[in-house]
Amino acid sequence: MLLEVNHLKTEFQLKHGTVKAVDDISFSLNKGEILAIVGESGSGKSVTSLSVMGLVQEPGEVTGGEILFKGEDLLKKNKSEMQAIRGDQISMIFQEPMTSLNPVYRIKDQIMESIMTHMKLSKKEAWERAVHMLDIVGIPSPAERAKDYPHQMSGGMRQRVMTAMALSCRPELLIADEPTTALDVTIQAQILDLLYHMREKFNMAVLLITHDLGVVSEAADRVIVMYCGKIVEEADVRTLFEETMHPYTLGLLRSIPRLEDESEEPLYMIKGMVPNPLKMPTGCAFSDRCDKCMDRCRREMPELIERNGHKVRCFLYENEPEEAEKHE
Ligand SMILES: Nc1ncnc2c1ncn2[C@@H]1O[C@H](COP(=O)(O)OP(=O)(O)OP(=O)(O)O)[C@@H](O)[C@H]1O
Ligand code: SF4
Ligand SMILES: [Mg+2]
Repeated sequence: MLLEVNHLKTEFQLKHGTVKAVDDISFSLNKGEILAIVGESGSGKSVTSLSVMGLVQEPGEVTGGEILFKGEDLLKKNKSEMQAIRGDQISMIFQEPMTSLNPVYRIKDQIMESIMTHMKLSKKEAWERAVHMLDIVGIPSPAERAKDYPHQMSGGMRQRVMTAMALSCRPELLIADEPTTALDVTIQAQILDLLYHMREKFNMAVLLITHDLGVVSEAADRVIVMYCGKIVEEADVRTLFEETMHPYTLGLLRSIPRLEDESEEPLYMIKGMVPNPLKMPTGCAFSDRCDKCMDRCRREMPELIERNGHKVRCFLYENEPEEAEKHE
């Protein structure tokens, strides 16, 4: 097992209360596996990945659990140990590219520095590798563009530069937070191909965070669906799409536009909105929006139960076959 997250909790202490952005989640990732995390805005996807990277900023704080990377708890590492792990064994493509690009340095200096620090290459070799990486993420005239500063590039180009930087040191684990959102469809496909290639060739594992269920169905092996900081469903990608259990996941799947769908009906939308994290409903967090809501759902929070590797948090499934076992 490459990464094992157990009962992770990350909270933000605000003036008006505590936001439980990540609320007791557990998952694991094997070498070479691509695990997708999906969910609407605010469900805790980015905070989960920042927690693994050790980059949660104040007023946020990891308040519980463990994050085992190759058996060692990253939460027990000090700053410099984490710095050494980041960009070497674990790297990340951030949702907002400007957060990881320094505006005052040229692209080439940033990518070469990262390569030289982590790969012990000479300056010339690092330059060649940087240009090569920029080329394979689809940057035209890479040797020229490498001399640009970040602000001279479009959002899509910066996203590609960040991808090149993240992959240049051949990490064992890549955390990719919405890696394709800012990109057009062709480049999106190229980046996904590249992640696939890195997984095949170097056995790199990927934690792939995305809104886009199309990307999930193409790229992921396994999927976690998050809602309000908790996992509500987890399954291998085929099972999730073909034997969907949770009403929230069903809602997400029904909201995907389909090319072949010629009906005039408007696209499905899950009713209502994600609850305010400071005013979470008692009981199931999805109860206000769920078509199947029962009385009990408003009083109690369902547990995450598992059956044949398929996990779900919903009372509709609680009393089904005896082999369903409580997961928590
Ligand atoms: N700096 C912060 N201060 C206060 N609350 C925060 C902060 N960062 C995140 N949160 C809260 O944590 C929760 C999870 O946020 P997170 O950014 O992980 O969502 P997400 O799933 O990545 O959403 P998106 O799809 O929009 O990127 C949200 O309720 C958010 O309001
Ligand atoms: S527990 Fe109840 S409210 Fe929650 S998703 Fe299941 S049926 Fe809907
Ligand atoms: Mg996010």
